[in-house]
Amino acid sequence: MTSVTRLGYIGLNVTDIAAWEPILIQVLGFEPRPQQPGEALQLRMDDRHHRFTLYPAESNSFAYVGWEVDTRDDFFALYDKLTKNQVPVVKGTSEEKRERAVMELMRFPNPDGAVQEIFFGGVEDNQPFRPSRAISGYRTGEQGLGHILFAAADAELTVNFYREQLGFRLSDYIHWDDAQATFMHCNPRHHSLAITNPCFGTGPGELNHFMVQANSIDDVGRGYDLVQQLGIPLILTLGKHTNDKMTSFYMITPAGFAIEYGFGACEIDDKNWEVKFYNAPKIWGHNLVTHD
Ligand SMILES: [Fe+2]
Repeated sequence: MTSVTRLGYIGLNVTDIAAWEPILIQVLGFEPRPQQPGEALQLRMDDRHHRFTLYPAESNSFAYVGWEVDTRDDFFALYDKLTKNQVPVVKGTSEEKRERAVMELMRFPNPDGAVQEIFFGGVEDNQPFRPSRAISGYRTGEQGLGHILFAAADAELTVNFYREQLGFRLSDYIHWDDAQATFMHCNPRHHSLAITNPCFGTGPGELNHFMVQANSIDDVGRGYDLVQQLGIPLILTLGKHTNDKMTSFYMITPAGFAIEYGFGACEIDDKNWEVKFYNAPKIWGHNLVTHD
């Protein structure tokens, strides 16, 4: 089956771009690209042209997520398949491809209306990534930028949508409190995508969090110090997950969803992977921080 193979980029509509700088630039060390006043802000985390785009907007919302394919042939094969399966897919314009910095682009809604894009050929910039703080960089490459978690009105239907249309494979399940989460992979990263029922204040089609993975636990540890110095609110303290074995913490963004910053996740080899069912997301830590 032709599959997407990596999480490539994320776009967000935000009311106040400056409010995101402590998290994205000071803690995560992303590199802002030169920005025109009042225009979108593009941010780098590796040698790609950019991985994140913040668009000035009247309200905060998820704009789109970009899923990468390995070849142009895969791109056109997936376009034909989605069209045949009556997924309302449209190709991106030249202007959109230039703005996303990709060679080929298409777009369609997931079952809850969250905009999904598929692209081939994310531009490798001729200038190296220059992080905004001294970090050892991010685990990207064949594993893409990280992972993303959406809530879905009908989680079973949405999981099947991603498996059947985009070629995701099951990693495992965790059911705890009011949450039922399904984790899926499309490369050796334990999960590039997770889907839950609406829970913890995340509604259908909404983003709960995305995750970026540091190359060093010290990057995450120093980031944890910085979060406390800068007064950035946490939703989960430092802890370790049961399923992907990631050591991470979760910051609350100005939009209300979270960003997970982690290190040390396990990787999947499809030949001998066993799909498991867990009753808790954490081995230790990850304590909920309540805010007034
Ligand atoms: Fe996560």
